[in-house]
Amino acid sequence: MLEKLTKWKSSFSSQEGTNEIDDINVPRHIAIIMDGNGRWAKQKGLPRIAGHREGMKVINKVVRKADDLGVEILTLYAFSTENWKRPKTEVDFLMKLPERFLNKELPMLMEKNVKVRLMGTIENLPEHTKRAVTKAVKDTEQNTGLILNFALNYGSRFELMEAVKKIANQIESGSLSAEDITESVLKENLMTAELRDPDLLIRTSGEIRLSNFMLWQVAYSEFWFTDVLWPDFDEHHLVEAIAVYQKRVRRYGGV
Ligand code: FPP
Repeated sequence: MLEKLTKWKSSFSSQEGTNEIDDINVPRHIAIIMDGNGRWAKQKGLPRIAGHREGMKVINKVVRKADDLGVEILTLYAFSTENWKRPKTEVDFLMKLPERFLNKELPMLMEKNVKVRLMGTIENLPEHTKRAVTKAVKDTEQNTGLILNFALNYGSRFELMEAVKKIANQIESGSLSAEDITESVLKENLMTAELRDPDLLIRTSGEIRLSNFMLWQVAYSEFWFTDVLWPDFDEHHLVEAIAVYQKRVRRYGGV
């Protein structure tokens, strides 16, 4: 613990100067839209999949740093419900990444006591992808440390639509009445039912939009956008984002 606190107090230099992390105000849930893999590859004259391969390697660094800093939940947008529109070769490659990542990193995740969790519709994934991710969830289910929540085949509108359907079914069966629908009832029917909302949302690559990501859950999250392309993102950028977060005053609509 003492070692962790010492780490939290240490400084990190980044492109934009030195950032100091305050140990008492680390965002408990960080969500990341990992964007810019394709552009990273293009800049280097490489095929898009090379960007995704490099992007996958960044996850190890970010998980380790988030864990070190005491973050409780790290949500990563790995594949959206809209990403199926990409060329088949790219989709096939993206579908191989969870397996590759987990084959390599599962021992590290176990050592760090990380619990893998999924958000999205995994039924529609290729068998090999489904097998790899369900195994990781099972193998890590007793872990009590950082929750690594992969958004895989995830779309927020679909999630909200499904929640509405579930609530409608409860009303139809008589177990709920329309007057009893509250924000908590809706939350309980989302794919993040047992997770707190993100405190900090990060998006890389200079795009300033949500792209159907956690629309309900980020209502009061702090946003941090960076031009850095995801394959170039590292632990220093994470610290920089947290340092900016710590300077923000969260008022949740109050004064
Ligand atoms: C967006 O960049 C990125 C994705 C759609 C895929 C993100 C996936 C990873 C970083 C690896 C996932 C790994 C695991 C373990 C699940 P883009 O292709 O849209 O980039 P562009 O906007 O520059 O074209």
